Amino acid sequence: MSKKIFSGVQPTGNLHLGNYLGAIKNFVELNNDEDNKCIFCVVDLHAITVKQDKDELKNNIRETTATFIASGIDPSKSIIFNQSKVYAHAEGSWILSCMAPMGWLNRMTQFKEKAGKDKEKASVGLYIYPILMASDILLYDATHVPVGEDQKQHLELTRDIAQKFNKDFKCENFLKVPEPLIKKNFSRIMSLKDGLKKMSKSDQSDLSRINLTDTKDEIVNKIKKAKTDSYSIPNEEEKLKDRPEAENLLGIYSSISDQTLDKTLDQFGGKNFSELKNQLAEILSNKIYPISNEIKKLINDKQYLDKILSEGADKAEQIAGKKIKEMKKIIGF
Ligand code: AMP
Ligand code: TRP
Repeated sequence: MSKKIFSGVQPTGNLHLGNYLGAIKNFVELNNDEDNKCIFCVVDLHAITVKQDKDELKNNIRETTATFIASGIDPSKSIIFNQSKVYAHAEGSWILSCMAPMGWLNRMTQFKEKAGKDKEKASVGLYIYPILMASDILLYDATHVPVGEDQKQHLELTRDIAQKFNKDFKCENFLKVPEPLIKKNFSRIMSLKDGLKKMSKSDQSDLSRINLTDTKDEIVNKIKKAKTDSYSIPNEEEKLKDRPEAENLLGIYSSISDQTLDKTLDQFGGKNFSELKNQLAEILSNKIYPISNEIKKLINDKQYLDKILSEGADKAEQIAGKKIKEMKKIIGF
């Protein structure tokens, strides 16, 4: 069945292995299926929900675009653009924010995590961030949204908002209710330094993540220094309970080598972590380093990247512009 795919990545720097295995690797697979229509968005309006440096933001928009292409997304097959170029996203977000009850937003755990203890100081944008995400998805009638596990709740909200809009305005099926595409086992890659913390762009320690721009030596060094425990590797998944660092490294190995966790446990069960680490470092360098190299090449070609974004925005505008017009008509404008 032909799918309409939409997903977004924030241009906030330090794209890492979690972004790759949780999201971008799936984007590439979906892009390679001729039946799918894919749209991948650099969500710069989302990025400014926390303070950004103007020049860094500009660079990060290009770097995220370069990462998409370097990872294997073909811009002649998929639409790649940055959100702020298509006005409908912000306009749709306003309309939907007038439909969505506060109670729904109050449940969003990511806001609570990101805002931290001092919620009064968090931006209003950070609070309504999931509504902008709903607008992104619903403007393109996306049927499927590939994301990491951390975005599951935002997708459920998107589905609820779509259904409420259709019901409130008696326009059944006008906003399409999208399905999340979340990989079952490896959709949450954890920090290399703490198996209970998500691998994240904003972690103070660079050793906690493999950046998609790391060199071979950096990758090898980070895997060598990754936290483990003092037991050997088990043979069964059940025995990974309460061993988050072991589970994470075995999960990363499985995901990057496209095999089940069971198979990885067969391969390494009873062995020491040093053996797993050696092989993991090798496979990661072989897969990530070429991407890193390509990102560095592409990032120097600003004209090419800007052209991709500008052509992508023209195509996106045609779809989203039409949808927002219909939406406004339905409301009574
Ligand atoms: P962000 O960088 O927050 O815009 O995230 C871009 C995509 O990467 C989203 O689909 C996230 O769910 C996914 N992602 C981010 N961090 C991780 C992680 N540690 N493990 C798996 N997926 C992740
Ligand atoms: N909120 C997502 C994240 O932080 C990024 C995002 C914005 C997104 N708009 C989207 C993802 C639409 C999927 C679809 O990871």
